[in-house]
Amino acid sequence: MRTTTARAHPNIALVKYWGKADEDLILPAAGSLSLTLDQFPTTTTVAPAPSAELDVLELDGRPADAGQTARISDFLDHVRTLAGRDERVIVRSRNSVPTGAGLASSASGFAALATAAAAAFDLDLSPRDLSRLARLGSGSACRSIAEGVAVWHAGDDASSFAEPVDAPDMRMIIVTVDRARKAVSSREAMRATAATSPFYSGWVSSTEDYLRQMLVACRAGDFTRIGEITESHALRMHGLIQSTVPPIRFLNPTSHAIFDAVAEAREQGIEAYSTADAGPNVAVIVRPSDAGALAGRLTAFGDVRVVGPGPGAHLCTEEGAAVPAAAVDAAAPVAVPASEPASEGGRA
Ligand code: DP6
Repeated sequence: MRTTTARAHPNIALVKYWGKADEDLILPAAGSLSLTLDQFPTTTTVAPAPSAELDVLELDGRPADAGQTARISDFLDHVRTLAGRDERVIVRSRNSVPTGAGLASSASGFAALATAAAAAFDLDLSPRDLSRLARLGSGSACRSIAEGVAVWHAGDDASSFAEPVDAPDMRMIIVTVDRARKAVSSREAMRATAATSPFYSGWVSSTEDYLRQMLVACRAGDFTRIGEITESHALRMHGLIQSTVPPIRFLNPTSHAIFDAVAEAREQGIEAYSTADAGPNVAVIVRPSDAGALAGRLTAFGDVRVVGPGPGAHLCTEEGAAVPAAAVDAAAPVAVPASEPASEGGRA
C-alpha cells in the first residue's frame, strides 16, 4: 500500500439521473449525460493505517460524522475486496464546493476517493473500471471520472459506467443562491420519488428518449438542441420530484426567477438554457462568446461563477502535477505527503 492523492471535479447533468434500477449496485433506471467542470475540485488523500481497527475520515479538516464515515468505509470495503486486502486507511478530503448544497460534492468526492483509494491499494484500473467503482460510492460520481461531457450508460454492473462524448464547447454559469446543506439527500429523495410518484415510469422512458436525442445533438454539435433538452429535462425532473408523496421541492423562488431571466435573455438573443440538480442553485449553459454578458446579468441573483469543461479524475504527483489516473503505472512513484494540497478555486 502507499499514500496517494487524487483530484476530481463535480459534474452537472444535462440529462438527469433520478432513480435506481438497483440500490446496492447503484445502477440507474436510465442513462444520463453531464458536464464535468473545471472548478470546485475535491482533493482526497488516502494513507495506510495498518494498526487502525476502523477507517478514519477527515472532511475539510474536521473529523467526519458517523454517517459519513460509515458510507466511506462501506465504499472502501469494495476497494479492499477488489484488491484482496483488508488494511484500514486514513482519508483526508477537501471540497471547494459547499458540501450537500446541490452542487454535486458527492460526485467529485467519490470520484476522487475511488481514484486515490484504487491507487493506494495498488489496483491498476481502466477508466471504465474506475468509473464503475466510483458509481458504487455515488451514482453521479462515475461521470466525474470522465472529462468534459460524459454519458453514463444504464445497464448491469459490468456495462454501467461513464465515458466522454464529443460535444461543442460550452460554458456553464453556476448561480449559487444557497449554500446550506439540503434538507433531504438526493439518495433518499430519489428513493421516495420512485416509490410514490405516479409519473415515475413516464419519467424513466422519457429520460431514455431524451438521452438518445441528446447524444445525436452532441455529435452534431447542435448547441440549441442540447440546450432545449437540458432545460426541458431539468424541469421534468423537478416536476417529478414535486410529485413525490409527501412532496419534495428543491427549487426556491430565486431559482425560478433565474429560469425566467435566462428565458428573457434568450428572447433578446443570448442563447442560454437553465438546469438545476437537487438544490436551489441553478446552472446555465451558454456559448463561450455569450458567457461574460449573461454572467453579468445573473449576479443579481447570487454568487456567479463561469466554468468550462474540466478534466477527469486524476492522481496528483508529489510536485502537484496531475497525471490521468488510468495512465499511472502501478509501480510509478505517485506517493505524496500526508497533508493534502490546498484546495483550488475560491468563489467569485
Ligand atoms: C439530481 O449521484 O448524488 O444530481 O447515486 O444515490 O449517490 P446517489 O445519488 P447522486 O444523485 C444525483 C442526482 C442529481 C442528478 C444527476 O446528477 O444526474
